[in-house]
Amino acid sequence: MNAPLLRTRGLGMRFGGLQAVADLDLETWPGEILGLIGPNGAGKSTTFNLIAGAMRPTSGVIEFDGHAMVGRPTHDFARRGIMRTFQHNKPFESMSLADNVKVGMHTRLPLSLWQVLAAAPATQSVEAKAARRAEELLEFVGLGEWVHADVGTLSFGQGRLLEIARALAGEPRLILFDEPAAGLTAAECERLAGIIGRIAAQGIAVLLIEHDMRFLMALAHRVAVLNFGRKIADGTPAEVQAHADVVRAYLGNVEALSNA
Ligand SMILES: Nc1ncnc2c1ncn2[C@@H]1O[C@H](COP(=O)(O)OP(=O)(O)OP(=O)(O)O)[C@@H](O)[C@H]1O
Ligand SMILES: [Mg+2]
Repeated sequence: MNAPLLRTRGLGMRFGGLQAVADLDLETWPGEILGLIGPNGAGKSTTFNLIAGAMRPTSGVIEFDGHAMVGRPTHDFARRGIMRTFQHNKPFESMSLADNVKVGMHTRLPLSLWQVLAAAPATQSVEAKAARRAEELLEFVGLGEWVHADVGTLSFGQGRLLEIARALAGEPRLILFDEPAAGLTAAECERLAGIIGRIAAQGIAVLLIEHDMRFLMALAHRVAVLNFGRKIADGTPAEVQAHADVVRAYLGNVEALSNA
């Protein structure tokens, strides 16, 4: 716990004339849930794209487990254990849930994705292990009954849980959730909060973007606030909610904060 797992310094992303992320210093520790909040367009998803290696920053440093990551290929980020879920679900339709989860394992298994899915004889023990692990993960997110079901039969909320199982299949050390509660019912939100809490309790670092302040403030150990790409506050949920700049950034939406 004495060194952060992820550390960014002076991280910046410029799109033409737009500075979407500016001079951002972030740190996350194993087992910690760090909330990332800010108004629409504040640069939260862009920050995730940088940390997941999907975009190369125009300035700054990303260290993961002591390794300098900027400039490495995207799959290196996944291989080191940085996994994400997306703001919009992207399941592979017409595949079973178990196969969708196995797709998430291919960053770790010593086999290509197609070998895993085709289960050639030489790969059968690996395939059996992968199938067991997929089942375990689907049970962990509460989809144990639907292991062999087709993804097309899932509700929206179940699709979200499947995406989490798929991210966990890559054995993350850091997992990035981009608005996981969006579109979920109150009961589904409660279940999701439990799952995220149990993920962190396993020692996985969690970075959580969420507009639902009640959900986020109850779950996060620490919260960083972005506004126009810059971090304007970083502290416990109570500290951040009392921060004048944060209230100002949310002006017109102060209710969202006081709801928490
Ligand atoms: N690929 C891109 N090319 C150009 N501009 C982009 C790109 N991605 C994001 N932006 C811009 O960067 C800014 C930050 O966007 P980003 O999606 O990171 O915000 P956000 O905080 O996730 O917002 P939201 O809460 O609406 O999801 C916005 O002005 C957005 O239009
Ligand atoms: Mg976003």
